[in-house]
Amino acid sequence: MKTLLLNPATDPEALPRAAELLRSGELVAFPTETVYGLGGCVFNAEAIARIFAVKGRPADNPLIVHIAAPEQAAQVAAELPPTYWLLAEHFFPGPLTVVLRRHPAVPPIVSGGLDTVALRMPRHPIALELIRLTGEPLAAPSANRSGRPSPTCAAHVLEDLDGAIAAVVDGGACEIGLESTVVNLLSSPPVILRPGAITAEQLARVLGEPVTYWQGEELAATPSPGMKYRHYAPNARVLLVFSWEELQRVLSTEPLTSSIVLAPEAAPFPLKLPLRPLRAETLYAEFRAADRAGIRSIVVVCTPEVQRNAALMDRLRKAAAARPEEQP
Ligand code: TXA
Ligand code: MG
Repeated sequence: MKTLLLNPATDPEALPRAAELLRSGELVAFPTETVYGLGGCVFNAEAIARIFAVKGRPADNPLIVHIAAPEQAAQVAAELPPTYWLLAEHFFPGPLTVVLRRHPAVPPIVSGGLDTVALRMPRHPIALELIRLTGEPLAAPSANRSGRPSPTCAAHVLEDLDGAIAAVVDGGACEIGLESTVVNLLSSPPVILRPGAITAEQLARVLGEPVTYWQGEELAATPSPGMKYRHYAPNARVLLVFSWEELQRVLSTEPLTSSIVLAPEAAPFPLKLPLRPLRAETLYAEFRAADRAGIRSIVVVCTPEVQRNAALMDRLRKAAAARPEEQP
């Protein structure tokens, strides 16, 4: 299959074309404010099955459904509790996904067989227009092959899925660069299953009740199957240090060859290794670039500013937890 690259900035037919492909059961990748999604019509079980197939995604890892207006949630969720409306009012459109009861019209395959459904209203104008033109919600996981970092530009999508999907809508680089916050509204108090740009504090303020982070030890009890899978880590070993002093100590004891340093600021001492910027927006692009360049170690300087960013720390810790036997 030839994958079309559609650009709404230069081609007025790009989005109508993409919507037509989706309506005919094809898969189309599109930009959101977080990462690129791989979209399929939510009520088309065959299209959804193909999303799992082209990503190489385990069948029990559920997808996120994307809507273009808060009211559209009624098409995919069985009930919309008051907490839903509160959060929608404050955070939609935006990087927040809520888990609710699944509507019987949504094929179970979308939710990996669960009776719940995760949904969000993205803030990207291209995503919103595409959902509107298609006329129904779009199920869309991140548009990477399973085990690769989420794509934050159209070229990343092609790197993983060229030839396997009908089209990619090019919307340039994603503004946020890390996946949305996922919060389970069926538990009391609500629990964050995946940290993202919307924080627990922001949710708690709006809901007027505490919001906690899901703890890894409760794995067996959690309804978020995606969390049990190995998350993406680059081929390089990822090493976290928590201060510049610690970096200096590591560099004086370990001879690091073909390595890079990721840090949010300039080093306070001369550095022999290349320094790359550490920012949420570009983290996955840096990981992909390191893989292409055959980098062996990535040392990440987690300054206090970085440590305060729960979403960024979550992705960094997952990358650093890579198992040695999986390294080249
Ligand atoms: O920012 C995002 O959320 C991006 C863009 C494309 O919207 N999407 C994304 O999708 O990251 P994906 O499939 O890569 O991650 C979905 C996450 C997984 O951790 C999955 O387990 C969880 O959401 N999830 C989906 N449905 C769920 C459900 N019914 N219950 C609990 N967790 C669910
Ligand atoms: Mg993903």
